[in-house]
Amino acid sequence: MGVTQVPEISVGSCDRTMPVIGMGTSADPPADLETAKAAILEAIRAGYRHFDTAFAYGSEKPLGEAIAEALRLGLVKSRAELFITTKLWSSFAEKDMIVPAMKMSLSNLQLEYVDMYLIHWPVRLSKEVKKMPVEKREYILPLDMKSVWEAMEECKNQGLTKGIGVSNFSCKKLEELLSTAKIPPAVNQVEMNPIWQQKQLREYCNAKGIHISAYSPLGANNTKWGDNRVVECNVLEEIAKSRGKTSAQVALRWLYEQGVSIVTKSFNKQRMRENLDIFDWSLTEEESKRIAQLPQKKGVLFANVMGPYDICLEIDAEI
Ligand SMILES: NC(=O)c1ccc[n+]([C@@H]2O[C@H](COP(=O)([O-])OP(=O)(O)OC[C@H]3O[C@@H](n4cnc5c(N)ncnc54)[C@H](OP(=O)(O)O)[C@@H]3O)[C@@H](O)[C@H]2O)c1
Repeated sequence: MGVTQVPEISVGSCDRTMPVIGMGTSADPPADLETAKAAILEAIRAGYRHFDTAFAYGSEKPLGEAIAEALRLGLVKSRAELFITTKLWSSFAEKDMIVPAMKMSLSNLQLEYVDMYLIHWPVRLSKEVKKMPVEKREYILPLDMKSVWEAMEECKNQGLTKGIGVSNFSCKKLEELLSTAKIPPAVNQVEMNPIWQQKQLREYCNAKGIHISAYSPLGANNTKWGDNRVVECNVLEEIAKSRGKTSAQVALRWLYEQGVSIVTKSFNKQRMRENLDIFDWSLTEEESKRIAQLPQKKGVLFANVMGPYDICLEIDAEI
Protein backbone atom coordinates (compact mmCIF):
# COMPACT_ATOMS: atom_id res chain seq x y z
CA MET A 1 0.00 0.00 0.00
CA GLY A 2 1.28 3.47 -0.92
CA VAL A 3 2.10 6.45 1.24
CA THR A 4 -0.34 9.38 0.93
CA GLN A 5 1.23 12.85 0.68
CA VAL A 6 -0.77 15.05 3.02
CA PRO A 7 -0.80 18.77 2.08
CA GLU A 8 0.71 21.23 4.59
CA ILE A 9 -0.46 24.74 5.44
CA SER A 10 0.96 27.76 7.28
CA VAL A 11 -0.71 28.41 10.61
CA GLY A 12 -0.35 31.94 11.98
CA SER A 13 2.52 32.45 14.39
CA CYS A 14 3.77 28.83 14.18
CA ASP A 15 7.35 28.52 12.87
CA ARG A 16 6.57 25.59 10.60
CA THR A 17 3.81 24.28 8.34
CA MET A 18 1.19 21.84 9.57
CA PRO A 19 -0.02 18.73 7.71
CA VAL A 20 -3.77 19.26 7.23
CA ILE A 21 -4.70 15.85 8.60
CA GLY A 22 -3.37 14.67 11.94
CA MET A 23 -3.84 11.32 13.67
CA GLY A 24 -5.66 11.66 16.99
CA THR A 25 -4.42 9.50 19.87
CA SER A 26 -7.27 9.74 22.36
CA ALA A 27 -8.76 6.25 22.37
CA ASP A 28 -11.87 4.84 24.05
CA PRO A 29 -11.35 2.50 25.80
CA PRO A 30 -7.78 3.74 26.41
CA ALA A 31 -5.23 1.75 24.40
CA ASP A 32 -2.27 0.02 26.07
CA LEU A 33 1.21 1.24 25.14
CA GLU A 34 1.95 -1.49 22.58
CA THR A 35 -1.42 -1.13 20.80
CA ALA A 36 -1.10 2.64 20.55
CA LYS A 37 2.53 2.42 19.43
CA ALA A 38 1.70 -0.15 16.72
CA ALA A 39 -1.21 1.98 15.47
CA ILE A 40 0.97 5.10 15.30
CA LEU A 41 3.69 3.25 13.37
CA GLU A 42 1.04 1.99 10.96
CA ALA A 43 -0.22 5.56 10.57
CA ILE A 44 3.31 6.74 9.71
CA ARG A 45 3.50 3.98 7.08
CA ALA A 46 0.19 5.23 5.61
CA GLY A 47 1.48 8.83 5.37
CA TYR A 48 0.37 10.56 8.59
CA ARG A 49 3.01 13.07 9.69
CA HIS A 50 0.97 15.04 12.21
CA PHE A 51 0.07 13.46 15.58
CA ASP A 52 -2.23 14.95 18.17
CA THR A 53 -1.65 13.98 21.78
CA ALA A 54 -2.15 15.52 25.24
CA PHE A 55 -0.84 14.96 28.74
CA ALA A 56 -4.41 14.02 29.69
CA TYR A 57 -4.71 11.23 27.08
CA GLY A 58 -1.77 9.24 28.46
CA SER A 59 -0.66 8.82 24.84
CA GLU A 60 2.51 10.92 24.96
CA LYS A 61 4.67 7.92 25.97
CA PRO A 62 3.47 5.52 23.25
CA LEU A 63 3.77 8.32 20.71
CA GLY A 64 7.35 8.97 21.84
CA GLU A 65 8.16 5.27 21.55
CA ALA A 66 6.59 5.10 18.09
CA ILE A 67 8.57 8.14 16.87
CA ALA A 68 11.84 6.64 18.15
CA GLU A 69 10.99 3.34 16.44
CA ALA A 70 9.98 5.06 13.16
CA LEU A 71 13.36 6.81 13.12
CA ARG A 72 15.19 3.53 13.85
CA LEU A 73 13.27 1.79 11.05
CA GLY A 74 13.86 4.67 8.65
CA LEU A 75 10.10 5.25 8.11
CA VAL A 76 10.96 8.94 8.52
CA LYS A 77 14.46 10.32 7.99
CA SER A 78 14.38 12.93 10.71
CA ARG A 79 12.24 14.22 13.57
CA ALA A 80 11.65 17.39 11.53
CA GLU A 81 9.40 15.45 9.12
CA LEU A 82 6.85 15.06 11.91
CA PHE A 83 4.45 17.63 13.36
CA ILE A 84 3.62 16.89 16.99
CA THR A 85 0.84 18.64 18.91
CA THR A 86 0.41 18.22 22.65
CA LYS A 87 -1.62 20.07 25.28
CA LEU A 88 -1.27 21.68 28.68
CA TRP A 89 -3.60 19.92 31.14
CA SER A 90 -5.81 22.19 33.26
CA SER A 91 -4.19 21.03 36.55
CA PHE A 92 -0.98 22.76 35.39
CA ALA A 93 -2.63 25.91 34.02
CA GLU A 94 -0.83 28.21 36.42
CA LYS A 95 2.04 30.51 35.46
CA ASP A 96 4.90 28.74 37.29
CA MET A 97 3.74 25.23 36.40
CA ILE A 98 3.59 25.66 32.63
CA VAL A 99 7.24 25.47 31.55
CA PRO A 100 7.78 22.42 33.84
CA ALA A 101 4.57 20.79 32.45
CA MET A 102 5.81 21.39 28.90
CA LYS A 103 9.18 19.80 29.83
CA MET A 104 7.38 16.81 31.36
CA SER A 105 5.47 16.30 28.08
CA LEU A 106 8.73 16.54 26.13
CA SER A 107 10.26 13.92 28.39
CA ASN A 108 7.25 11.61 27.84
CA LEU A 109 7.63 12.15 24.09
CA GLN A 110 11.45 11.73 24.14
CA LEU A 111 11.61 14.98 22.14
CA GLU A 112 13.50 18.26 22.41
CA TYR A 113 10.58 20.29 21.07
CA VAL A 114 7.01 19.89 19.89
CA ASP A 115 5.49 21.72 16.94
CA MET A 116 2.35 22.93 18.70
CA TYR A 117 1.52 23.35 22.38
CA LEU A 118 -2.13 24.09 23.21
CA ILE A 119 -4.00 25.11 26.36
CA HIS A 120 -6.39 22.12 26.53
CA TRP A 121 -9.42 23.87 28.13
CA PRO A 122 -10.05 27.49 29.20
CA VAL A 123 -10.10 26.63 32.93
CA ARG A 124 -7.72 25.75 35.74
CA LEU A 125 -8.22 22.75 38.01
CA SER A 126 -7.21 22.93 41.66
CA LYS A 127 -4.56 20.62 43.09
CA GLU A 128 -7.24 18.61 44.92
CA VAL A 129 -8.48 17.11 41.64
CA LYS A 130 -7.55 13.44 41.59
CA LYS A 131 -9.92 12.10 38.93
CA MET A 132 -12.28 13.13 36.15
CA PRO A 133 -15.07 14.22 36.22
CA VAL A 134 -13.94 16.45 39.10
CA GLU A 135 -15.48 15.75 42.51
CA LYS A 136 -16.48 19.33 43.48
CA ARG A 137 -17.56 22.51 41.71
CA GLU A 138 -14.99 24.54 43.72
CA TYR A 139 -12.16 22.62 42.05
CA ILE A 140 -12.88 24.20 38.65
CA LEU A 141 -11.29 27.64 38.67
CA PRO A 142 -11.00 30.52 36.22
CA LEU A 143 -7.86 30.70 34.11
CA ASP A 144 -5.58 33.67 34.72
CA MET A 145 -5.39 34.32 31.01
CA LYS A 146 -2.62 36.95 30.98
CA SER A 147 -0.08 35.09 33.13
CA VAL A 148 -0.91 31.66 31.63
CA TRP A 149 -0.40 32.97 28.12
CA GLU A 150 2.86 34.68 29.12
CA ALA A 151 4.14 31.26 30.26
CA MET A 152 2.97 29.69 26.98
CA GLU A 153 4.91 32.44 25.15
CA GLU A 154 7.91 31.57 27.32
CA CYS A 155 7.68 27.93 26.12
CA LYS A 156 7.93 29.19 22.54
CA ASN A 157 10.69 31.68 23.33
CA GLN A 158 12.72 28.89 24.97
CA GLY A 159 12.37 26.78 21.80
CA LEU A 160 10.37 24.05 23.56
CA THR A 161 7.63 24.42 20.93
CA LYS A 162 7.45 25.88 17.42
CA GLY A 163 3.94 27.19 17.94
CA ILE A 164 1.43 27.92 20.71
CA GLY A 165 -2.33 27.88 20.64
CA VAL A 166 -5.50 26.99 22.46
CA SER A 167 -8.28 24.44 22.43
CA ASN A 168 -11.99 24.72 23.22
CA PHE A 169 -11.80 28.55 23.30
CA SER A 170 -14.91 30.61 22.48
CA CYS A 171 -14.80 34.01 20.71
CA LYS A 172 -15.16 35.63 24.15
CA LYS A 173 -12.18 33.73 25.59
CA LEU A 174 -10.07 34.49 22.50
CA GLU A 175 -10.93 38.17 22.78
CA GLU A 176 -9.66 38.17 26.38
CA LEU A 177 -6.47 36.35 25.37
CA LEU A 178 -5.76 38.62 22.40
CA SER A 179 -6.08 41.74 24.56
CA THR A 180 -2.73 40.96 26.26
CA ALA A 181 -0.98 38.40 24.01
CA LYS A 182 2.41 39.32 22.52
CA ILE A 183 2.37 36.19 20.34
CA PRO A 184 -1.17 35.51 19.05
CA PRO A 185 -2.41 31.90 19.28
CA ALA A 186 -1.69 30.07 16.00
CA VAL A 187 -4.46 27.50 16.44
CA ASN A 188 -7.79 26.98 18.18
CA GLN A 189 -8.55 23.24 18.23
CA VAL A 190 -12.29 22.71 18.63
CA GLU A 191 -15.01 20.20 17.85
CA MET A 192 -16.04 20.63 14.23
CA ASN A 193 -17.85 18.38 11.75
CA PRO A 194 -20.89 18.63 9.44
CA ILE A 195 -23.23 18.41 12.48
CA TRP A 196 -21.35 21.12 14.44
CA GLN A 197 -20.01 23.53 11.84
CA GLN A 198 -18.77 26.33 14.12
CA LYS A 199 -19.82 29.12 11.72
CA GLN A 200 -19.51 32.02 14.16
CA LEU A 201 -16.21 30.90 15.68
CA ARG A 202 -14.76 30.31 12.20
CA GLU A 203 -15.67 33.82 11.09
CA TYR A 204 -14.09 35.28 14.22
CA CYS A 205 -10.91 33.18 13.91
CA ASN A 206 -10.56 33.97 10.19
CA ALA A 207 -10.74 37.68 10.97
CA LYS A 208 -8.04 37.32 13.67
CA GLY A 209 -5.73 35.01 11.70
CA ILE A 210 -6.25 32.08 14.08
CA HIS A 211 -6.30 28.69 12.36
CA ILE A 212 -9.08 26.23 13.29
CA SER A 213 -8.19 22.59 13.80
CA ALA A 214 -11.22 20.29 13.81
CA TYR A 215 -11.39 17.54 16.42
CA SER A 216 -14.03 14.79 16.53
CA PRO A 217 -14.50 15.29 12.75
CA LEU A 218 -16.37 11.98 12.61
CA GLY A 219 -18.46 12.84 15.66
CA ALA A 220 -16.15 10.64 17.79
CA ASN A 221 -17.97 7.57 16.46
CA ASN A 222 -18.12 4.66 18.95
CA THR A 223 -16.58 6.56 21.87
CA LYS A 224 -18.14 7.57 25.19
CA TRP A 225 -17.81 11.27 24.28
CA GLY A 226 -19.40 10.87 20.81
CA ASP A 227 -21.81 8.86 18.68
CA ASN A 228 -22.72 7.86 15.13
CA ARG A 229 -24.51 11.13 14.23
CA VAL A 230 -21.87 12.00 11.61
CA VAL A 231 -20.99 8.61 10.08
CA GLU A 232 -24.66 7.60 9.94
CA CYS A 233 -26.03 10.98 8.85
CA ASN A 234 -28.49 10.31 5.97
CA VAL A 235 -27.34 13.23 3.82
CA LEU A 236 -23.66 12.25 4.13
CA GLU A 237 -24.53 8.62 3.40
CA GLU A 238 -26.49 9.61 0.27
CA ILE A 239 -23.64 11.76 -1.03
CA ALA A 240 -21.13 9.00 -0.19
CA LYS A 241 -23.14 6.36 -2.03
CA SER A 242 -23.49 8.45 -5.18
CA ARG A 243 -19.73 9.20 -5.19
CA GLY A 244 -18.39 5.75 -4.27
CA LYS A 245 -16.99 7.13 -0.98
CA THR A 246 -17.80 6.55 2.69
CA SER A 247 -19.73 9.02 4.86
CA ALA A 248 -16.52 9.48 6.90
CA GLN A 249 -14.65 10.55 3.76
CA VAL A 250 -17.44 12.97 2.81
CA ALA A 251 -17.28 14.54 6.31
CA LEU A 252 -13.47 14.84 6.16
CA ARG A 253 -13.48 16.23 2.60
CA TRP A 254 -16.10 18.82 3.60
CA LEU A 255 -13.87 19.93 6.50
CA TYR A 256 -10.82 20.14 4.23
CA GLU A 257 -12.78 22.31 1.80
CA GLN A 258 -13.64 24.70 4.66
CA GLY A 259 -9.91 25.49 5.02
CA VAL A 260 -9.52 23.95 8.46
CA SER A 261 -7.09 21.22 9.50
CA ILE A 262 -8.37 17.95 10.90
CA VAL A 263 -7.37 15.61 13.72
CA THR A 264 -9.09 12.27 13.44
CA LYS A 265 -8.39 9.02 15.25
CA SER A 266 -8.38 5.52 13.84
CA PHE A 267 -6.20 2.72 15.15
CA ASN A 268 -7.63 0.45 12.42
CA LYS A 269 -5.35 -0.14 9.42
CA GLN A 270 -8.08 0.18 6.76
CA ARG A 271 -9.98 3.10 8.29
CA MET A 272 -6.83 5.19 8.93
CA ARG A 273 -6.03 4.89 5.19
CA GLU A 274 -9.64 5.53 4.18
CA ASN A 275 -9.48 8.77 6.18
CA LEU A 276 -6.46 9.99 4.20
CA ASP A 277 -8.06 9.26 0.86
CA ILE A 278 -9.77 12.62 0.42
CA PHE A 279 -7.36 14.67 -1.66
CA ASP A 280 -8.01 13.64 -5.28
CA TRP A 281 -11.74 14.46 -5.52
CA SER A 282 -14.03 17.27 -4.43
CA LEU A 283 -17.62 17.90 -3.43
CA THR A 284 -19.95 19.59 -5.91
CA GLU A 285 -21.53 22.93 -5.04
CA GLU A 286 -24.87 21.18 -4.60
CA GLU A 287 -23.38 18.62 -2.20
CA SER A 288 -21.68 21.35 -0.13
CA LYS A 289 -24.97 23.25 0.02
CA ARG A 290 -26.80 20.20 1.36
CA ILE A 291 -24.14 19.73 4.05
CA ALA A 292 -24.26 23.43 4.99
CA GLN A 293 -28.00 23.05 5.70
CA LEU A 294 -27.71 20.10 8.11
CA PRO A 295 -29.36 20.65 11.52
CA GLN A 296 -26.69 21.51 14.11
CA LYS A 297 -25.99 19.86 17.46
CA LYS A 298 -22.92 20.10 19.65
CA GLY A 299 -21.53 16.68 20.55
CA VAL A 300 -18.58 17.00 22.93
CA LEU A 301 -19.77 18.69 26.13
CA PHE A 302 -17.40 20.23 28.67
CA ALA A 303 -19.87 19.06 31.33
CA ASN A 304 -19.22 15.45 30.30
CA VAL A 305 -15.48 15.90 30.81
CA MET A 306 -15.45 18.02 33.97
CA GLY A 307 -18.77 17.29 35.71
CA PRO A 308 -22.35 18.64 36.01
CA TYR A 309 -21.52 22.11 37.35
CA ASP A 310 -22.81 25.62 36.59
CA ILE A 311 -19.41 26.79 35.25
CA CYS A 312 -19.54 23.92 32.72
CA LEU A 313 -22.93 25.07 31.43
CA GLU A 314 -21.44 28.52 30.89
CA ILE A 315 -18.53 27.15 28.84
CA ASP A 316 -20.78 24.75 26.88
CA ALA A 317 -23.12 27.64 26.03
CA GLU A 318 -20.22 29.69 24.68
CA ILE A 319 -18.49 27.06 22.56
N1 LIG B 1 -8.85 19.29 22.25
C1 LIG B 1 -9.80 18.51 22.74
O1 LIG B 1 -10.44 18.83 23.76
C2 LIG B 1 -10.12 17.23 22.03
C3 LIG B 1 -11.32 16.57 22.28
C4 LIG B 1 -11.58 15.38 21.59
C5 LIG B 1 -10.65 14.89 20.68
N2 LIG B 1 -9.47 15.53 20.46
C6 LIG B 1 -8.43 15.01 19.55
O2 LIG B 1 -9.01 14.78 18.29
C7 LIG B 1 -8.83 13.42 17.92
C8 LIG B 1 -9.98 12.97 17.04
O3 LIG B 1 -11.23 13.13 17.69
P1 LIG B 1 -12.07 11.92 18.29
O4 LIG B 1 -11.15 10.78 18.55
O5 LIG B 1 -12.89 12.48 19.40
O6 LIG B 1 -13.09 11.55 17.16
P2 LIG B 1 -13.14 11.16 15.60
O7 LIG B 1 -11.84 11.22 14.95
O8 LIG B 1 -14.28 11.95 15.07
O9 LIG B 1 -13.65 9.64 15.70
C9 LIG B 1 -12.84 8.60 16.15
C10 LIG B 1 -13.73 7.36 16.27
O10 LIG B 1 -14.28 7.04 14.98
C11 LIG B 1 -13.85 5.77 14.54
N3 LIG B 1 -13.49 5.89 13.12
C12 LIG B 1 -12.34 6.37 12.58
N4 LIG B 1 -12.39 6.37 11.25
C13 LIG B 1 -13.60 5.88 10.90
C14 LIG B 1 -14.23 5.64 9.66
N5 LIG B 1 -13.62 5.89 8.52
N6 LIG B 1 -15.49 5.13 9.67
C15 LIG B 1 -16.13 4.86 10.86
N7 LIG B 1 -15.58 5.07 12.07
C16 LIG B 1 -14.33 5.58 12.10
C17 LIG B 1 -12.65 5.41 15.41
O11 LIG B 1 -12.58 4.02 15.63
P3 LIG B 1 -11.35 3.11 15.09
O12 LIG B 1 -10.10 3.56 15.79
O13 LIG B 1 -11.77 1.74 15.48
O14 LIG B 1 -11.30 3.28 13.60
C18 LIG B 1 -12.97 6.15 16.72
O15 LIG B 1 -13.82 5.35 17.54
C19 LIG B 1 -8.70 12.70 19.26
O16 LIG B 1 -8.15 11.39 19.13
C20 LIG B 1 -7.83 13.67 20.00
O17 LIG B 1 -6.48 13.54 19.57
C21 LIG B 1 -9.21 16.71 21.11
